[in-house]
Amino acid sequence: MRRRAGRAAIALALALVLALSAPACSRPPVAPDASAADVGWTAHGRTPDEQRYSPLARIDETNVASLGLAWSFDLETRHGVEATPLVIDGVMFVSAPWSVVHALDAKTGRPLWQFDPAVPRATARKACCGIVNRGVAADAGRLFVGTLDGRLVALDAKSGAKRWETQTVDPSQPYTITGAPRVVAGLVVIGNGGAELGVRGYVSAYHVETGELAWRTYTVPGDPAKGFESPALERAAATWSGEWWMMGGGGTAWDAFAWDPELDLLYVGTGNGGPFPIWTRSPGAGGDNLYLSSILALRPKTGELVWHFQTTPGDSWDYTATQHMILADLEIGGRLRKVLMQAPKNGYFWVIDRETGEFISAAPYTTVTWSKGVDAKGRPIVDPALDYREQPKLVHPGPAGGHNWQPMSFHPGTGLVYIPAFDVPMVFTAKPDFRFRPGFENTGLDFRNFIAFDEGQKIEIDAFLLAWDPIAQREVWRVPHVTTNNGGVLSTGGNLVFQGTADGRLVAYRASDGEKLWEAPAGTGVIAAPITYQIDGVQYVSVAAGWGGSFALSGGPAALLAGVWGGGRVLTYALGAHAEPPPKAMPPPPTGHAPKPPASPPSADLLARGSFLYHDHCMACHGPKAISGGTVVDLRDASAETLDRLEAIVLGGEREPLGMPRFDDRLKADEVEAIRVYLLSRNRRTDLRSATTPAN
Ligand code: HEC
Repeated sequence: MRRRAGRAAIALALALVLALSAPACSRPPVAPDASAADVGWTAHGRTPDEQRYSPLARIDETNVASLGLAWSFDLETRHGVEATPLVIDGVMFVSAPWSVVHALDAKTGRPLWQFDPAVPRATARKACCGIVNRGVAADAGRLFVGTLDGRLVALDAKSGAKRWETQTVDPSQPYTITGAPRVVAGLVVIGNGGAELGVRGYVSAYHVETGELAWRTYTVPGDPAKGFESPALERAAATWSGEWWMMGGGGTAWDAFAWDPELDLLYVGTGNGGPFPIWTRSPGAGGDNLYLSSILALRPKTGELVWHFQTTPGDSWDYTATQHMILADLEIGGRLRKVLMQAPKNGYFWVIDRETGEFISAAPYTTVTWSKGVDAKGRPIVDPALDYREQPKLVHPGPAGGHNWQPMSFHPGTGLVYIPAFDVPMVFTAKPDFRFRPGFENTGLDFRNFIAFDEGQKIEIDAFLLAWDPIAQREVWRVPHVTTNNGGVLSTGGNLVFQGTADGRLVAYRASDGEKLWEAPAGTGVIAAPITYQIDGVQYVSVAAGWGGSFALSGGPAALLAGVWGGGRVLTYALGAHAEPPPKAMPPPPTGHAPKPPASPPSADLLARGSFLYHDHCMACHGPKAISGGTVVDLRDASAETLDRLEAIVLGGEREPLGMPRFDDRLKADEVEAIRVYLLSRNRRTDLRSATTPAN
């Protein structure tokens, strides 16, 4: 654990001196300074409308240049950090990989307690996108965390002691939880993920006091022979065909929720279809496949569906609508409208009437080729020329979307939405002989086009922070980034926007025009969203940094463009502070002896088999062609000792405590041997590449 409490204290004193000498505070203190009151960050999106805007303005465009590190806290992980911390009564609650929760003194970073839900390490294999966690929820002295293995745990906020725990999923199925719960009208609401492997999505709500289930609402219909849970699901079933329920169907609600207490509506974003191509899950007629890729408005007390809006009817591209939803009141066409805004993966920015679900407007915020626009009702017009059923097709956006889980922010002053956006297309290739295999990756796509990168190959990736006018539906400014998977966004009353970057910085921009005003090195990639809070008159900005998640795991050389390595830490800044930053996260140095070349070159068949098995089972974490994207160890540096023990590692579970799953239920010794031969051909500690021909 690395902290700089001593220096932080000096820095804080300095910050106070600076704050006291600022003109706003030098006026005679007739009344207590309301702007000095303590202000926390008490819910995931700060407020139920999830605007991620804070009115705090002690740090503003005129003084942000003197922002410095107040304290840091080492999360002791190399896996991705995606959490939005909460700050309540001077205590910061931040979740980390494996769903571990840390409570820290928000002024100093001093650890108060830690809760480890002891997630079985084998769960890693079910997590499409890393063993990440995006945060906790809080209510009246309790904290709630969803665990990777599907539990919802209530903790005492003071002590970290467990109050109750409930299993929210069938553990025999490949469900995971990575999203933050929300507390809504006395209930704690939680979704789940797993559509890539084959599950049926749903949302559950539990009583905050007891953990008793209040309701569960499925997002896609189940087996009609068993009867439908609601009329809404019966209506949905008419938009499916075949035996979709055998494969789960998808529609998982793995991240976004928003709540309007006045309208008494809970908004839920639902995910993609499982498998991806519609012809594999809903053959023949196809259909819209409700309620995939949709925004659902539910009654918070009952879970009953009030309205729905489907952003991608008949999804075949992994175009989830689980992306951040923001509620705001905007004047549109001379009328104040209660709207919901979302930039889902499909590339369109949507403005929807949140009372009725009526379509207001949509426009592409990134390159969109799968669709040629939207009709008067807001239904996207699909371009049939890009149907990839018969032939691979290059489509914008790719399955990562034009925007992913990284939260946006809405600034009521500028009226702009700040989107961590990108333009990363993919060649969609249907798996010709696709068969559903329970528990395996079941996307129905052949990712080998995606993995055809190699070292030194030029990779076109366009990523940017986008300031978007939701009324005019147009871009106002943008800041380009080095590579994709940059951080979520915070905007503040100081006319500021904060965003972390994949290449390891936390940056502040002027909210109105995007001019860069400040940056600090984070020593690792930043993918989570920053927060701000105020204690004893000092405003802090804080971010949970740590490179990881699906892009860093499977992006290989594209992810390496970021030039960072995973190394989770919480970084907290204040004006005039100057604590020493924690060291830059570095890749683990190669250990053991360099492997020796084989006595005779392996056959091309064996290499090809090893490559195929590697990409089928290992690529999702170790990267294409064994090129690590900066989170788990690079297998091209594997030692002779490690490769000798490959069977014990892969089949025996020798490294399971580190998050390396065992594969004894799906690989045999001769298959591990083929992978070993392939990994030997990729080793960069011994020059084997001249002796063997690397296969794809
Ligand atoms: C769910 C993610 C995941 C998958 C899938 C996965 N691994 Fe791993 N693997 C890890 C993690 C995490 C580690 C621990 C490495 C670290 O400390 O960074 C690891 C470690 C290893 C190591 C030890 C490396 C060393 O030098 O210490 C080997 C070898 C390895 N994995 C091989 C494989 C092979 C072969 C496959 C496919 C059959 C595979 N892994 C699939 C996550 C994964």
